[in-house]
Amino acid sequence: MTAPPHLVVFTGSGISAESGIKTFRASDGLWEDHPVEEVATPAGWRRDPQRVLEFYNLRREQIRKAKPNAAHKALAALEKDGFRVSVVTQNIDDLHERAGSRDVLHLHGEILKARSTVDVRLRYPLPKGGIALGDICDKGSQLRPDVVWFGESVPLFEDACELVSQADFLLVVGTSLAVMPAASLLSYIDLDTPCALVDPDADALTPPGVLAINTTAGEGVPALVNQWRKQGNLMLP
Ligand code: APR
Repeated sequence: MTAPPHLVVFTGSGISAESGIKTFRASDGLWEDHPVEEVATPAGWRRDPQRVLEFYNLRREQIRKAKPNAAHKALAALEKDGFRVSVVTQNIDDLHERAGSRDVLHLHGEILKARSTVDVRLRYPLPKGGIALGDICDKGSQLRPDVVWFGESVPLFEDACELVSQADFLLVVGTSLAVMPAASLLSYIDLDTPCALVDPDADALTPPGVLAINTTAGEGVPALVNQWRKQGNLMLP
């Protein structure tokens, strides 16, 4: 038996835009009206943890209300059809999982989990509610959102590189490729592995050798996936 074609999908905030979640660079260095350095850096946390917790508590509520869109659903449908689909996402939302994708690596963490401030291995799901000052981990330390802030290391980066290096096709969706080290993932594909970027700004963002598909995730991803499902392989139409 031959192995099913392996699609690795690398997603950024653009794939969740049509689910009503704002992208980052759309707001000029502000994240939902907050300066990024105040709510998404270790220094911001030290300065005002209450503010940081409130910020993520609000975003968590927003994400719980959002629904997966056509792009998330198309990727899950491809997996259901027997393709191997690995998602590497920069997003902290759970829309890929809620659409049905089973192999999702969150490079920048998950907002629906809390984690210890003294031991990164201590993580706790947050099926409802948020994190308050005084909520502690099993070692007695304050809990924080399980997200990777600017200036912190990206613990799953090597796992993501390994996946990308195994891809039969790398599909990049809705990312400005501006944040390192995530953006450098593209350099880990084999030189003969095809790669495409679906983004309304793809022409301006696409590195050499990558196919630019200048459209939204909600249009571009289902169109590609439908073609692949018909063909039974990951060749470009
Ligand atoms: N479909 C696809 N792409 C879209 C859509 C859409 N409907 N709308 C916007 N985009 C694209 C934009 O053209 C842009 O290229 O989404 C991209 C969003 O880019 P950024 O805002 O820079 O987001 P991202 O690349 O995910 O940022 C990476 O930065 O702030 C950090 O940790 C945060 O994970 C995030 C990282």
